[in-house]
Amino acid sequence: MQPSDRPAEVAVPHAVAELVRSGADIAVLTGAGMSRESGISTFREAQTGLWERFDPEEIASVDAWSQDNALVWGWYLWRAHVARRADPNDGHIALAELASSRSVSIVTQNVDDLHERAGSRVAAHLHGSLFAPRCEHCGTPYLGSDAEIRVRDGEEPSPELRVDPPTCMHCLSLVRPGIVWFGEPLPVDAWGRAEAAVLAADVVLVVGTSNLVYPAARLPETALEAGIPVIEINPEVTPLSRHASVTWRATAATALPALVAAINAGAARP
Ligand code: OAD
Repeated sequence: MQPSDRPAEVAVPHAVAELVRSGADIAVLTGAGMSRESGISTFREAQTGLWERFDPEEIASVDAWSQDNALVWGWYLWRAHVARRADPNDGHIALAELASSRSVSIVTQNVDDLHERAGSRVAAHLHGSLFAPRCEHCGTPYLGSDAEIRVRDGEEPSPELRVDPPTCMHCLSLVRPGIVWFGEPLPVDAWGRAEAAVLAADVVLVVGTSNLVYPAARLPETALEAGIPVIEINPEVTPLSRHASVTWRATAATALPALVAAINAGAARP
């Protein structure tokens, strides 16, 4: 069933439906909350967030990599395994459907591939990808089977699994996860595409991010400064909430299908 076939059980705020309906170019900025209903943990939520269980300095930083690369490589293999097992949720699917009637540029902080598997083209993965390991020295993409988690019969992958990273076929340096770690700059090309997408948009949807991590959190501010309306979709208040043009306290997998259904229903009206 497509999201638009479902009855719109969720009330879509009028301002949200109107802004998106009248926009030809929509930029969508997504964070970990986008994939929450696919079963992938966010980072900062109490009890369930990854940074409640793991110290980012010890697992997601250049220092962590130089101190214990097997721990870091194993942790990202575990996360890749979790992401591979997850399916896109109704929110991901709704965004792919939205692109059939207007231009939709997705800029994500997420390192999973659920937007792509739902059928969307992603303009920028600001924080990299779980599925793009590369040589730490020469940058050659790593395509070997070690990128798959190797699990012994009956053994569940775990975040504590230590796995030695493979070596680059060109220069024999270590292969590292294709993730932007704390303290590293964002890829210049991805950032350029993200800024361009936001500044070209008629409206910006910000879905499922705490808006705490810069420079990604700068993008909605850029839009607002340029006079572009920003809609926040998040069940919780964030630092963006009081500046956003409209805030909608709802989850990605409930709000986005309802929004697309409302727009499609409006388009069908004479
Ligand atoms: P956070 O964990 O900081 O925030 C997740 C947000 O999603 C919170 O504001 C939640 O209220 C919201 N949320 C939870 N469930 C939701 C749902 N079902 N639908 C919509 N929203 C929901 O995650 P990010 O903002 O993505 O970086 O974190 C930004 C970056 O910090 C990540 O990319 C990661 C992390 O450190 C790196 O690893 C480089």
